Amino acid sequence: MRDSYKKPVLKSLYFNQEVDRIPSLKGKTIAITGTTSGTGFIAAKIVAEKGARTLLLNRKTNRSNKSYDLLKEHYPKANIVNIECDLQSFKSVKKAAKTITDLCNDGLDVLCNNAGVMALKDQATIDGFDIQMQTNHLSHFLLTKELLPLLETAAEKRGEARIVNHTSISRYGVKNLESKYFEKRGGILGGNGSNILNKILLGMILINPRWYRYSQTKLANAAFTACLHEKLQAKNSKIKALIAHPGLAMTDLQDTTIKDGGMGAFMTGKMMGGGQTMEDGAIGIIKCIGDSDAMSGDFYGPGSGKMDMKGPVVKFGLEEFYDNRKTKDLLWTKSCEAIELDFKIE
Ligand SMILES: NC(=O)c1ccc[n+]([C@@H]2O[C@H](COP(=O)([O-])OP(=O)(O)OC[C@H]3O[C@@H](n4cnc5c(N)ncnc54)[C@H](OP(=O)(O)O)[C@@H]3O)[C@@H](O)[C@H]2O)c1
Repeated sequence: MRDSYKKPVLKSLYFNQEVDRIPSLKGKTIAITGTTSGTGFIAAKIVAEKGARTLLLNRKTNRSNKSYDLLKEHYPKANIVNIECDLQSFKSVKKAAKTITDLCNDGLDVLCNNAGVMALKDQATIDGFDIQMQTNHLSHFLLTKELLPLLETAAEKRGEARIVNHTSISRYGVKNLESKYFEKRGGILGGNGSNILNKILLGMILINPRWYRYSQTKLANAAFTACLHEKLQAKNSKIKALIAHPGLAMTDLQDTTIKDGGMGAFMTGKMMGGGQTMEDGAIGIIKCIGDSDAMSGDFYGPGSGKMDMKGPVVKFGLEEFYDNRKTKDLLWTKSCEAIELDFKIE
């Protein structure tokens, strides 16, 4: 099986003008997960370029060392810190949060929960959870809980702070969040399915267990944002909760899935021809991080903001299919149970 695909030639259409609109971020400290490639790498680059102290939260790998070196090469004077954070391990996430707490007496202005994996095999993490749910949502839930005091400090001192989550069009792939995906059932959540992305595209997202699990995680990202927005607004907090989706962006995400057997190389090449560059895909999170007009509860994504895979980024609101009592309660209760901590915002 091929482990990569023929990359189509795509051009960034909106990136430069959107980045020009982001003001200076001097004086801010901004943490981003998953900056070794893709949208996280691009966001880190812009945040460093705009003058923020940039905290890179990654697994300790050659990829994290290389991406750190590359950023330092681009911006030798920038204050960039590489912090080990493996989202497959709650222990590692807690350690990263402690390092950040020790480093940021003056608060944390933005936490961008960007990292993610897509349609991986049915595997358990060291903590027993589905590898996709722990990486994409549960560890970000824990990280946010641990860093909330620092975000509060920044908000009090500098007037606002932000929590930014990254979802996907795949949030539409399931109707509801289901409790079992938040439980210690990694490895027994439907198996690996067959590689039918070669045959059908969107139809398979609904039926293949790998993609079903991915959709659960991306719906969880959206529901988490809706919960944060509601809880922070209720206590008149100056912390904003925001969310973005990147459309279909040519990053390393698809390569990782191909290597794991979740998509076929040929059809991925065809599909990516209808996508956009990773720079254009990163605009949503960059606007959530730095756009002066961004408000709590805003959702940024390409096109009409719904099913669009590419196009200019527009601002729209949280959607009813996850911004409802039942979904929000399930998300919060099950996530607290998973991290074995009560996350109170009151
Ligand atoms: N690209 C798209 O079309 C698309 C569409 C919808 C949503 N998204 C979302 O966009 C976000 C960014 O993905 P991307 O497209 O930029 O893909 P990417 O290039 O593969 O980047 C993913 C990042 O997540 C990191 N990561 C994975 N597992 C991790 C772990 N256990 N601990 C810490 N970091 C980990 C990766 O680091 P390593 O080097 O350690 O693997 C990498 O830095 C994801 O949340 C994804 O769901 C992307």
